[in-house]
Amino acid sequence: MPDSQDRTAIWNLTDIDPVKAEQIARLRAQAVSDPDGFWLEQARRIEWASFPAVASNSSFEGDVSIRWFEDGMLNASVSCLDRHLADRGDKPALIWQADDTTVSRTLTFRELHEEVCRLSNALRALGVKRGERVAIHLPMVVEGVVAMLACARIGAVHVVLFGGFSPEGIGERLIDSSAVAVITCDTGRRGAKRIPHKVTIDAALTHAGTICAVKNVIVVQVTGDVVPMKEGRDHDYTALVSQQSPACEAEIMRAEDVLFLLYTSGSTGKPKAMVHATGGYMVWAAYTTDLTLAPEPERVHWCTADIAWITGHTYVVYGPLLSGTTTLIYEGLLGWPQPGRWWEIVDRYEVSCLYTAPTAIRALIREGDEVPGRYSLASLRRLACAGEPISPDAWEWFYEVVGRRRCPVADMWWQTETGGGMLCVIPGAQPMKPGWATTPLPGLTAVLTSEKGEIIEGAVEGALCFTASWPGQARTIWGDHKRFRETYFTFSPGKYFAGDGARRDENGYYMITGRMDDVINVSGHRIGTAEIEDALATCHAISEAAAVGVSHDLKGQGIVVFVVARSSKVAPAADELSTIICDRVGRYAAPERVYLVNEMPKTRSGKIVRRLLRKIASNETESLGDLSTLADPAVIPTLIATVKEQN
Ligand code: WTA
Repeated sequence: MPDSQDRTAIWNLTDIDPVKAEQIARLRAQAVSDPDGFWLEQARRIEWASFPAVASNSSFEGDVSIRWFEDGMLNASVSCLDRHLADRGDKPALIWQADDTTVSRTLTFRELHEEVCRLSNALRALGVKRGERVAIHLPMVVEGVVAMLACARIGAVHVVLFGGFSPEGIGERLIDSSAVAVITCDTGRRGAKRIPHKVTIDAALTHAGTICAVKNVIVVQVTGDVVPMKEGRDHDYTALVSQQSPACEAEIMRAEDVLFLLYTSGSTGKPKAMVHATGGYMVWAAYTTDLTLAPEPERVHWCTADIAWITGHTYVVYGPLLSGTTTLIYEGLLGWPQPGRWWEIVDRYEVSCLYTAPTAIRALIREGDEVPGRYSLASLRRLACAGEPISPDAWEWFYEVVGRRRCPVADMWWQTETGGGMLCVIPGAQPMKPGWATTPLPGLTAVLTSEKGEIIEGAVEGALCFTASWPGQARTIWGDHKRFRETYFTFSPGKYFAGDGARRDENGYYMITGRMDDVINVSGHRIGTAEIEDALATCHAISEAAAVGVSHDLKGQGIVVFVVARSSKVAPAADELSTIICDRVGRYAAPERVYLVNEMPKTRSGKIVRRLLRKIASNETESLGDLSTLADPAVIPTLIATVKEQN
């Protein structure tokens, strides 16, 4: 690992291309002097059926209204597929590497276009209409990408649901989105395990009951496992699409028509679906990909995110395909069946850009430096990461051991709400700084505010806000605009509050310090403490529950749960509580530890003080801070003793 002197060396790294630096400086200046002209120019990065005359018509004041390019008309799948057919129809668009090393599949732009058209026709034949929601619940297989683009082609709204959600969680989302169809598979592979996709969907539909609008379930055969099929509702994917024509006219959408919903977690229990609009999202995907990842046709781009997350949407599917680059998806796990699996894939397909998450980088570090050392990795030109803060050490490892000091590392800060990258270094135009997401992309106006929401200047720490809209911004929360306005625009009125804290240095670089709300980031997955607490509230043996995030070597953060038993006679078992969380939220929310305590630390108004629970769970009992706001400070020593006993 490099010493601190080397760290300065990286910071000073002057691998700057003066032409590029000048070009980006011009872009920044134009975004300030002529924002409308600037954004309309960026809109040319995608294909329009009717080019817009207006850029933004947005306001963060009052009811909050966000609209971009609203007189423009387009279809998202046309930008990703049709427009490449003439130039590079026979070049690879999508590479799928199976879990089995010997199995892979490559689709050219023409082949991907045909697959998408077939499924689009099949969805139309099943009666799916423009504007209706279609849920997608698939592992990392070709059909996941095809399904997203097919929905886009017919103007249906895709709602990709994570494979790790519980049946209850999926049922809730199917009801909330009023999805009319689901695209899933028999089972998926996860190392030596099988993930029961179809059985989960069946259970979710049962849970959702009669208020659920799902009429059709399309089942892809991924493993060939036999699964129950319900006559009239369930359809075999291959049987369905094979009868369809490989041509399908794309539905021409208004820029503000919804392209997709994507669920994410917030401070309150109910999952919220962020609403992304077609035109602005596509422009943002193209713009941010071009600026930070330097995609090139005929090179291979590999973003390791699952398509069920926003990173999968923007940097596995839309961003790379828009630019005509080849996007790679991998069905399997990081170190499976042996360490080095990722590097083998990089060498085999000559991956040029590798985009991943800090949690994966930490797992790769654990495999040992000698593992990547056995591979060439000479094809790599660009590295990127997002999803959680990356430590300077992990950044340097990625830069040195993987990138061999040849490849810039783009640490990109963004959110499901932002649609695409927001803070990120523009390699070649500015120096990198390990652990820092650096500066806002041209056109964005980031500010830091005090806890009261007032703007603070200079090298300080504060709450990260944006004063004006950008094309990729989520338009609202599906069915709950009030919650959208209250969550993001009331902390500092007239500004978008991201929910993250950040530090700014004297060069205007930003470093994310973490969430300021009750959201825990476990391996890059956002989980609201309220989701866990609401799940535990269904257990009759406990009267109170509080979940907190504590630092975790591999996952970034891990979940620790404190519970108070309803009666001292029937203490709930930790396993039982963990199962309740997995059943109601999902396996990814399983707690690291469950502490049974007699009393919670509360304010005089009865609010649980999670800050103190976090400190106690992290064994930081020396620095508990001010206890005078507690209703009864005497609970603290008892709490510390109880936790120690259970460790
Ligand atoms: C965190 C994932 C530090 C942050 C793209 C944000 C980051 C949340 C970074 C959004 C980064 C994302 N550095 N923290 N580069 N990128 N985060 O919606 O707390 O799944 O608010 O989007 O992840 O998570 P989401």
